[in-house]
Amino acid sequence: MNTIVVENYEEMSRRAAEILEQQVSENPHSVLGLATGSTPLGLYARMIEGHQQRGISYEHVQTFNLDEYRGLNKNHPNSYRIFMIENLFKQIDISMSHTYIPNGQAHSVEEECLRYEALIDRIGPIDLQILGMGTNGHIGFNEPGTAEESLTHIIELDDSTRQNNARFFESLDEVPTHAITMGIASILKSRKILLLASGEQKAEAVKTLLEKNISEDFPASFLWKHADVTLIADREAYRLV
Ligand code: GLP
Repeated sequence: MNTIVVENYEEMSRRAAEILEQQVSENPHSVLGLATGSTPLGLYARMIEGHQQRGISYEHVQTFNLDEYRGLNKNHPNSYRIFMIENLFKQIDISMSHTYIPNGQAHSVEEECLRYEALIDRIGPIDLQILGMGTNGHIGFNEPGTAEESLTHIIELDDSTRQNNARFFESLDEVPTHAITMGIASILKSRKILLLASGEQKAEAVKTLLEKNISEDFPASFLWKHADVTLIADREAYRLV
């Protein structure tokens, strides 16, 4: 794992955008893996800026999102589909038909998971996967206890994850209890992985990650099994290392 320590959130976002834009300029048909949460918002803002001010094009790019809440209407403001449209897709020249997100409302969740994994295999591999990390070490929504071999699957969200994400909802009760997520093995199929961590609330998780104990108890630790992972952490997130 290649680790880059930067001053703050802004610099983390800028460095991540440079890496992503380089990927897209080298291969305009890149397949990108995208994440939700607060962490990548600065990266997405930089991508929009790069598109609007420097003409960086996403016309031929295809994207896979890591996860989606189970049961939320796809037009619910807190669905990850709407998050991606609002924070990125509608402000760049990507074709919506090139953006893939699990369907959290699928009638058969098992079929949806199989469909999504098959789509990754058909269109992928993902050239560059962007990841944030939960305070409990989750990546995507792969909570502690998720197997290394896991493919796209349904999971029950940890209480801590629901509490962390409650800030986006009216109340904790409204946070869905389940989500569909790409599995650990689905993520590790990507050619390159870029993990972002910012702020003191991630310091404990960054410290645990860099201790390199590979275990289901801390899903991000499986990233040590991949040959091309870059961690960009800001000073606060890195402060316990
Ligand atoms: C969320 C997402 C993850 C994200 C993580 C951290 O629940 N499913 O993909 O990386 O938790 O979120 P944040 O970036 O807001 O700290």
